[in-house]
Amino acid sequence: MSSDAPSPEAALLDPERLPRHVAIIMDGNGRWAKKRLLNRVKGHEKGADSVRAVVKACREVGVPYLTLYAFSTENWQRPRMEVDALMTLLKKFLQTEAEELLTNNIRLDTIGETGRLPEDVRQSLARVVAQTRGNDGLHLILALSYGSRDEIVHAVRDIAAEAAAGRLSPSTVDEALLSAKLFTRDIPDPDLLIRTSGELRLSNFLLWQLAYAEFHFTPTLWPDFGREEFFRILADYQRRDRRFGRVDPEPAS
Ligand code: IPE
Ligand code: IPE
Ligand code: MG
Repeated sequence: MSSDAPSPEAALLDPERLPRHVAIIMDGNGRWAKKRLLNRVKGHEKGADSVRAVVKACREVGVPYLTLYAFSTENWQRPRMEVDALMTLLKKFLQTEAEELLTNNIRLDTIGETGRLPEDVRQSLARVVAQTRGNDGLHLILALSYGSRDEIVHAVRDIAAEAAAGRLSPSTVDEALLSAKLFTRDIPDPDLLIRTSGELRLSNFLLWQLAYAEFHFTPTLWPDFGREEFFRILADYQRRDRRFGRVDPEPAS
């Protein structure tokens, strides 16, 4: 079957009950490479194919928001060679995909301390973000140099500064105000979080925004992740009962 053929898994999904926003911790590139006695960078390169596959799958079924954790604030502590390779890969990805994003009506955005990225990567990012700003198809958000605690600290600092300057009263600080100070201010909270590679942790990702997300952990390493598994996860999500603390209504007798 060609990868463009409609997949049976996608056909089984209920279009009315799709997650509005899927967030993915793309993990396991290094282990994928190690298993093949390759350099870790090869795993990151292969991981780019999985990104393309998931972006396409979201467009196919109509998931409106997709956030991908591509580089955390903690990842700066990796060996220089690996960080450099990741930055080069990101730049390459932006160059090769820009056209694809435009023709497919995809809007690209970033969350994170992107000011810490190398100048050339920042420029490529700014260009593609500006070029795709008017697109109203899939909203693709890359988390780059992203750390959730850091994001929350900055938001709190902002609010404290406004209060100190007398522009707001502490009693008006509420969840909506804090949300509005985060990188994700214009983005709905994720409904579904997926983490690949079998690790059962958040690694400082969207701590505030994931308060009521459904979690799905899969042992698949990110470079092996593809559309079929993504659709299976969406089907599993549709079987979940999201109660948000309430009690299910009694079935009518
Ligand atoms: C995820 O894969 C990609 C990034 C964090 C940039 P890893 O590089 O963490 O792969 P593992 O976890 O070492 O296998
Ligand atoms: C989380 O993966 C960050 C990204 C996927 C970008 P890591 O591999 O960096 O996280 P830990 O080290 O397992 O917590
Ligand atoms: Mg990892």
